[in-house]
Amino acid sequence: MPSRERPDRNLAMELVRVTESAALSAARWVGRGDKNRADGAAVDAMRNVLDTVNMDGIVVIGEGEKDEAPMLYNGERVGNGSSPVTDVAVDPIDGTTLTAMGRGNALSVIAVAERGAMFNPGPCTYMEKIATGAEAASAIDLDASPTRNVKEVARAMRKLVSEVTVIILERDRHNELIAEVRSTGARIRLISDGDIFAAIAAASPEVGVDLLMGIGGTPEGVVAAAALKSLGGQILGRLHPRNDAERTAALAQGYDLTRVLDIDDLVRGNDAFFAATGVTDGELLHGIRYDSYGARSHSLVMRSRSGTIRYIDTHHRHDRISAYFTDETE
Ligand code: FBP
Repeated sequence: MPSRERPDRNLAMELVRVTESAALSAARWVGRGDKNRADGAAVDAMRNVLDTVNMDGIVVIGEGEKDEAPMLYNGERVGNGSSPVTDVAVDPIDGTTLTAMGRGNALSVIAVAERGAMFNPGPCTYMEKIATGAEAASAIDLDASPTRNVKEVARAMRKLVSEVTVIILERDRHNELIAEVRSTGARIRLISDGDIFAAIAAASPEVGVDLLMGIGGTPEGVVAAAALKSLGGQILGRLHPRNDAERTAALAQGYDLTRVLDIDDLVRGNDAFFAATGVTDGELLHGIRYDSYGARSHSLVMRSRSGTIRYIDTHHRHDRISAYFTDETE
């Protein structure tokens, strides 16, 4: 039986191998128009390396329910079975379409926390979200209007409203939100996909984005919360059922659809680990690049308890990375 020892500091450094392998596999599919094969390659690679990580993990946020996802399904045991005992959230590619289209900011991501610490999204695919970095962490309020949030963030960051940049997924469901934010005079960065990147961007001064707003994936919200724990930011969310069936299922399972979940509801405690590797080039991370040695990956590794944020630039030898890819067109 594994002991209930708390996750130790080495875990974050081990996890980066997991996202590196997923990104290296997915990278061969960049721009090739097939998001499912890109995702499949990332899932396979991630699953293989995860089993070498020293932990007894349970996938809380995975590829779906067991009958839909053969690997990395919710409830699957991962890791080599040794301590610590953990919850695991994976997103082998956040931005499968970004990858398939060769667009920027696709990431391979994993988050790990103590067992029982991660919010289980249940049947609700979507969540209303608002996220920002440390400076404005206490200024955001999901019950307040977008106008008020933009103004409060500007005040907390000592900026003019016209200097605040809000990142929003470009979706029809956000037309009113976009119109209201525009009416405040704030700047908007519209993205086609990838709101884990967006949440991290909102909490990372070097990206130049201050605030994420809008409705996106609930699993992505939990993963983003694990990342923002290290960055000192805040993410607030409220489950947003897509239809009556989701609403009924969520209520039947005891979810409170009115409740605002904060970062500590999404990932409890202060022992969250996060690793992300760039699949395609972006503002946060470079994507996978190939050279005469093999390939180069760029990753972000964070641990909330220590607050360490590491960028890791890894050179992978050619004969090692070819193991990540078998393709009939090669
Ligand atoms: P995938 O990588 O699974 O395609 O998800 C990308 C993403 O943009 C997420 O980052 C985001 O939370 C979600 O999709 C938004 O969902 P939708 O595309 O249905 O609006």
